[in-house]
Amino acid sequence: MSTIALFRECSELISSSPIDSFRCRTLSPLRRILRFVLGFGLAASLGTFGVPGHAQNLSIGNQQPATTHGPSIATCEGCHGALGAGSETGAPRLAGQNPDYLAHALSMFKAGTRISPPMQAVAQNLSESDMRTLSAFFASQHPPLPAASTPPSPALVAAGRQLAETGSSPNVLACFSCHAAGGKGNGARFPSIAGEPVAFTVARLHEFQARAKTSTPKPGSMTAVAASLTQSQIEQVAAYLSVTAP
Ligand code: HEC
Ligand code: HEC
Repeated sequence: MSTIALFRECSELISSSPIDSFRCRTLSPLRRILRFVLGFGLAASLGTFGVPGHAQNLSIGNQQPATTHGPSIATCEGCHGALGAGSETGAPRLAGQNPDYLAHALSMFKAGTRISPPMQAVAQNLSESDMRTLSAFFASQHPPLPAASTPPSPALVAAGRQLAETGSSPNVLACFSCHAAGGKGNGARFPSIAGEPVAFTVARLHEFQARAKTSTPKPGSMTAVAASLTQSQIEQVAAYLSVTAP
């Protein structure tokens, strides 16, 4: 494999097998030099990583969003969709999310306090300033919702909307009472949940539910909310959020 191909593979970090990460580590000093050489501009890195379709959407020059150290925006888009629109395979929508929420999530992945094998591998290579740059970039994007291969049924969407707007007695609080009207989010504490792919919402709610089983959640926390949801409520609300533009 050529050095450039290996560099690209390491940058994408799709594979986190021990052998690949060993090869990536071995390559580290060389990567630094390559990054230095490649790092003079987003145009250069987009050229190298070959996402010409988006190149014209990104501003370069003074507002250049490329990082010179960590993975490029094109790397993120490989999983998170064009301009961070989100992907049916479960990578969340980053576009329009609160930038501090995104940056905090990245630092948790790096510290290992939020578990996600692909994101921990990606975040390892990011400096604080890379995290800020990437978060600011995605927070200010407004791509349309990605098209779903099988749109959810109207009945499921309607039930999810009801739950999001008014909750369900006696236990389930309205999602939008914390996440703001339309699920647009409220500051760095209450993330935007509108437009999230079904697979992400379902996985994240399951993760909160699993956490609730290991220790009693604080009342009013997302862990406590998730613990009050049934599987069919999760599917309803995930369907509704996936078709709700933020
Ligand atoms: C190999 C696929 C992959 C790549 C590449 C990738 N991500 Fe992710 N990312 C994911 C997945 C999957 C999740 C969901 C993790 C979870 O919650 O379990 C995620 C979650 C996140 C989150 C948390 C968002 C939230 O709302 O909770 C942020 C922030 C993030 N990624 C940023 C990035 C950035 C920035 C890049 C590029 C430097 C990137 N990701 C590259 C797959 C990827
Ligand atoms: C009492 C306030 C509150 C209510 C009600 C609430 N949430 Fe949350 N939610 C939060 C907080 C706080 C977080 C951030 C937790 C974190 O990052 O660890 C969160 C995070 C999330 C996330 C992860 C978002 C991301 O990008 O990582 C999802 C998905 C979510 N909530 C869905 C829901 C749904 C669906 C409902 C309604 C059934 C709901 N929430 C109701 C407070 C709330």
